[in-house]
Amino acid sequence: MLDDGPVLYLATSALALAVLICVRRYWVDHSGLPLPPGPTPLPLLGNILSLDVTQPWLAFNTWRFTYGDIIYARLFSKPVIVINSEEVAKDLFERRSHVYSDRPQSILYEPFAVDFNIVFMPYGDRWRLHRRILHQAFRQVEIPSYHALQLRSAHKMLFSLLQNPDDYSSHFQMFILSFMLPIVYDYEVKAKEDRIVDAMSRYVKMVGESLAPGPTALMETFPCLLQLPSWFPGVTFKQASVKCIQTGYDIQELPFQYVRERMSTGGMLPCLVADTLNKMGLSEEDDDITTAVKEAASIASAVASDTSTSTLHVFLLAMVLNPEVQAKAHAEINRVVGKDRLPDFDDRPSLPYLEAVLRETLRWHPVAPLGIPHATTTSDIYKGYFIPKGVVVFANIFRAMTHDEKKYPNPGEFKPERFLHEDGSLTSDTMPLGFGWGRRICAGRHLADASLWIAIASFPKFSAGITSHPEKFPFRIVTRFSDASVRTLMHSTGLEQSV
Ligand code: HEM
Repeated sequence: MLDDGPVLYLATSALALAVLICVRRYWVDHSGLPLPPGPTPLPLLGNILSLDVTQPWLAFNTWRFTYGDIIYARLFSKPVIVINSEEVAKDLFERRSHVYSDRPQSILYEPFAVDFNIVFMPYGDRWRLHRRILHQAFRQVEIPSYHALQLRSAHKMLFSLLQNPDDYSSHFQMFILSFMLPIVYDYEVKAKEDRIVDAMSRYVKMVGESLAPGPTALMETFPCLLQLPSWFPGVTFKQASVKCIQTGYDIQELPFQYVRERMSTGGMLPCLVADTLNKMGLSEEDDDITTAVKEAASIASAVASDTSTSTLHVFLLAMVLNPEVQAKAHAEINRVVGKDRLPDFDDRPSLPYLEAVLRETLRWHPVAPLGIPHATTTSDIYKGYFIPKGVVVFANIFRAMTHDEKKYPNPGEFKPERFLHEDGSLTSDTMPLGFGWGRRICAGRHLADASLWIAIASFPKFSAGITSHPEKFPFRIVTRFSDASVRTLMHSTGLEQSV
């Protein structure tokens, strides 16, 4: 019979050592503190099977009732923190912004042309430079200087909607880009088929599709998938990557070269790109800054069109579903502005109900339901929990905050009255949640606020209709004004020629 002694001794020692290593790692990593509570992860998959990857906020919200306002989970191998309350979001993103202002990085950013996009950029000098460039043009004091452009674009959109209501989606996009491109590049969108507009919309669409949460999580967990040859069955991302890179190049170069040419021949109006290049006294050699201007300008234009267009879709749906809200808004406009002219920015303080409609639109369905995820640059301790370095932090803006039952009873109902006192004046809740927090707060929020307001103030009447479109909803559109007065308005603003 063999003597088991040394084998048993070795096995016991190895086990004791393994336990010691684990305990030590736990102690060092967590300072002895627990991670925030959360659902038990499966090996390899983490908690991915517990959520619908196309709308993870639903599961995050369900978890809230079991685990609370701050949750730790794993999506495949990626550890994540989910914030389920406004207070915790402010504590972490604002009061501890030195820790929570990074963005998670992905091996997919380069192949899908997101590596030059400030929205996803790691916290650091390059991000700071991009942010400074955008801040100069989009800080609050600059916004009134864009009002005339925004008003003109809103009138153009109204005219296009009346002429061809079915195409509302492209009218919304054209509304945004027809003031955004002049602000950024002094570029006037004249033709319907415009190659810069076309590149911007393709970029936004492609990036959105390529970075869909499900495939992204899969490829990040199994990066070897990226190495598969393009002829391999089911491998479509290689072709998608080539197109994304080409489009990413187009949105930077096409408008930038336009500005460069016009600067060399003179006669440019002020715009973000020309002003920044002039202010910085840049020569061709200042490569880093020139590149940053080019990159930041293209992303601001693309992001603005995507988020604002989506918000106008939400508004349109809300109006079709809630004709009584629309009737009240139009009654207010008719009372304050009359029927002989369209509202302008000077009317804004006198239209509290319309203001409440805008706030309710942003609350009812925020277009970035989880914001853009942040990441930590160092580890942290919050409310007795250990928050690891590099963890991805999601703010569950939609379900846990803008649909918080306690703050907004019956949150699924579209009720602008939530933002009004009994006497009809506005409450102090300005609904800033959808624009994020802290150092990474939306750089275009003031511009977005002005453009959404003028758009909804200029809208005609919408009602449920009989025609139907794939992925669209049916509605009819009628002007609040007489045909003659709309035509007079269009004529006086010179819009008849341009649409
Ligand atoms: C309805 C319209 C918009 C919504 C709902 C929206 C929402 C957001 C959100 C949630 C973030 C992330 C904030 C965070 O990380 O905490 C963000 C970031 C950003 N937004 Fe907006 N946005 C809108 C319009 C715009 C416009 C018009 C522009 C451009 C002028 C813009 C430019 C940006 C940029 C550059 C960032 C990245 C900021 C950074 O990472 O430092 N957005 N936006």
